[in-house]
Amino acid sequence: MVLQRLNSIPAYRKLFGRAFPEVAAGAPIDFSMFGRAIAEFEFALTFANAPIDQFARGDLDAMTPAEKRGALIFFGKGRCVECHSVAGKANEMFTDSQERNIGVPQIAPFFGVGKGDTIFDGPNQDEDFGLEQITNNPADRYHFRTAPLRNLAIQPAFFHNGSFTRLEDAVRHHLNVFESARNYDPVRAGVERDLRQRVGPIEPVLATVDPILATPINLTDAEFDDLTAFVRNGLQDKRVNKENLCRLIPDSVPSGRPLLKFVNCPKDKDK
Ligand code: HEC
Repeated sequence: MVLQRLNSIPAYRKLFGRAFPEVAAGAPIDFSMFGRAIAEFEFALTFANAPIDQFARGDLDAMTPAEKRGALIFFGKGRCVECHSVAGKANEMFTDSQERNIGVPQIAPFFGVGKGDTIFDGPNQDEDFGLEQITNNPADRYHFRTAPLRNLAIQPAFFHNGSFTRLEDAVRHHLNVFESARNYDPVRAGVERDLRQRVGPIEPVLATVDPILATPINLTDAEFDDLTAFVRNGLQDKRVNKENLCRLIPDSVPSGRPLLKFVNCPKDKDK
């Protein structure tokens, strides 16, 4: 459908023709072109010039003392880097790109018109089996990819399902996943109304938690504050802000279809 739409709208054919000479010469836009165009746009959204990058390049004042102390915890006794890796293939993105079970609370909307549009897993359709959905391997149940950690300061919710809305809570969850998951309350976590209706079973999730987080990590309050300062500010590229990102939303698209609404961006006129 997407390809049909792109190929039937002259404005898209013209835009694709600028990037792909074969389209300009009359060939149809194909799926690989569509994918590459989206990928190029996404590459343009990589903002990786945070205090830690500047520090790594030799600007020793780029990080505050709290961020530096927090970094030492991140790379040391906090064990964060064991999954949120930086070196080699991780390409400084703070993820090993592996799917893991870290005991994230299960929240699910009800399915149906005006409710959710996805049928969830499990006997009560209130679970997400994660990687198992793709591999059909029960050992992959509840595994989700280690999230990259850059520019989290502007992120409204955390984990694959947005079960936490405060960065502190998402970080604290890791320190004792059992305590956090068993005491989870979606209202206290600040999630939207439609996701507060039901919390899926947590014991089956906790039964196979990643061994790295199966032993709680003890941090003092001061260490926790430093760690959070590092994750929130030490990894934040200053260019990532409302003004710069809202500007990326076009006033209209060639198909004439309605645009998604971005709740935190002003309406087109006052952009
Ligand atoms: C065992 C591997 C592992 C370790 C160790 C680990 N994490 Fe995570 N982390 C994950 C996974 C997996 C996710 C994504 C979970 C999901 O989406 O359900 C995640 C998500 C996060 C998120 C949410 C990011 C987002 O965009 O939603 C933050 C923040 C975070 N981790 C911080 C930390 C900190 C700080 C530490 C060290 C105290 C740490 N993590 C240790 C595996 C790990």
